[in-house]
Amino acid sequence: MRFDIIRIADRPDMAERTAQWFHSKWGIPLEAYAESITDCIRGDAPVPQWYAAVQDGVIIGGVGVIENDFHNRRELAPNVCALYVNEDMRCRGIAGALLDFACGDMEKQGIDTLYLLTDHTLFYERYGWEFFCMVQGNGEPHMSRMYIRRPVRDTGVTIARAVPEDAGAILAFLRCAEGGTDRLSFGAKGMPLSVEAMAESIAAMGDGSLMLVAKKDGEIVANASLACLPHRACRRGEVSVAVARERLDCGIGGMLLSRLVDLAYQSGCHILDATVRSDDAAAIRLCEQHGFRQMFTRPGYFNIGDTNIDGEYMCLRMR
Ligand SMILES: CC(C)(COP(=O)(O)OP(=O)(O)OC[C@H]1O[C@@H](n2cnc3c(N)ncnc32)[C@H](O)[C@@H]1OP(=O)(O)O)[C@@H](O)C(=O)NCCC(=O)NCCS
Repeated sequence: MRFDIIRIADRPDMAERTAQWFHSKWGIPLEAYAESITDCIRGDAPVPQWYAAVQDGVIIGGVGVIENDFHNRRELAPNVCALYVNEDMRCRGIAGALLDFACGDMEKQGIDTLYLLTDHTLFYERYGWEFFCMVQGNGEPHMSRMYIRRPVRDTGVTIARAVPEDAGAILAFLRCAEGGTDRLSFGAKGMPLSVEAMAESIAAMGDGSLMLVAKKDGEIVANASLACLPHRACRRGEVSVAVARERLDCGIGGMLLSRLVDLAYQSGCHILDATVRSDDAAAIRLCEQHGFRQMFTRPGYFNIGDTNIDGEYMCLRMR
C-alpha cells in the first residue's frame, strides 16, 4: 500500500488542513494544533514537530512530537502525541511507519529518547517502545501509562521469570546481596526460607504473582517480585526489588520495577504497594520515578539483626 509521510515543517501549505484533521480526530481545540504547527514551521527548535501520512493528497494518519503531553513528569520529554490513523486505513502498518519516521526525524535532530502517554497495552511494544512508568495526566482521574523509546543499550543483563530451579541461586543471591549492602530488608541471613520452600512458592506463582530474575553472564544480579493479593475485589499488589550491591545505580532496579508495574497493570491490579527502608533515599526515589507516592512511615517495619528499621509505605494508584 502506497502512502507518503510528510514533515509539516517542510510543507507550510498543509498547516491549516493538518490542524483541522487533528482537531477532528481528537476534539482538542483547533487553535491548540494551529499554534503548535505554526511553531513547528517557524523551526526555532526540533520540538514541536508534526507529521502526516498522505495518500492521493488525503491525510490518512498523523502524529506529533511536543514537549509535554499534559502530565506531571515534565522531565520525561519530549513526547510523541496524537497518533491517529483513519479507521478505514488501520492495520496496514501506517501507525508503525509514522512512529518510525517521527523517531528517525527526531534522531537526526539530536533527540534519541522519546516518551509517550497512552492507555494502550501491547501496541507500542511492536514498534520498539518499552513501558516505562505510570504518570498522572493533568486533570485525569487515573494514572496513564508512559512508554519510552531509546537507543538500544546492550547491558548484557537479561530479565526472565524465575522458575523453581532458580530457587537455590535466588536464596544465595539474596543472602549475598543482603549481606553486602545495608540498603536491603532481610539482613545478612537473607530470606528466611529453605530452597524447597522457595521452589514451591515459585511453582505456585501465577495469576498476578510472579518473581523475576535479572542475570548477567549466568549469575543472578537482581530479583524482583509481584504479589497480587488473592482477594480479587481488592485488586491490590505488592512489589519488591533487590539489586546486588555492585550493580546498584546501573538502571537494573528501574528495568525490573517497570516490568512489575506493567505486569501488575495488565493483571488488572488497581493499586500497588511497596514498603522500602526509610533510610534508603535511592529506593524511595526509584519508586517515585515510577509513579509511586510516599504515604507514611511504618515505624520499625523491618527487623534486621537486632534492629528495627522504619519503612516508608509507597503507593501507586493505577486506575
Ligand atoms: C492505534 C492506532 C494508531 C493503530 O494504527 P494502525 O495503523 O492500525 O497500526 P499498525 O497498522 O501500525 O499496527 C496494527 C497492528 O497493531 C495491532 N493493534 C492495533 N491496536 C492495538 C492495541 N490497542 N493493542 C494491541 N495491538 C493493537 C493491530 O491488531 C495490528 O496487528 P496485526 O498487524 O498483527 O494485525 C489506530 O488504531 C488508531 O488511530 N486508534 C485510535 C487513536 C489511538 O488510540 N491512538 C493512540 C493514542 S496513544
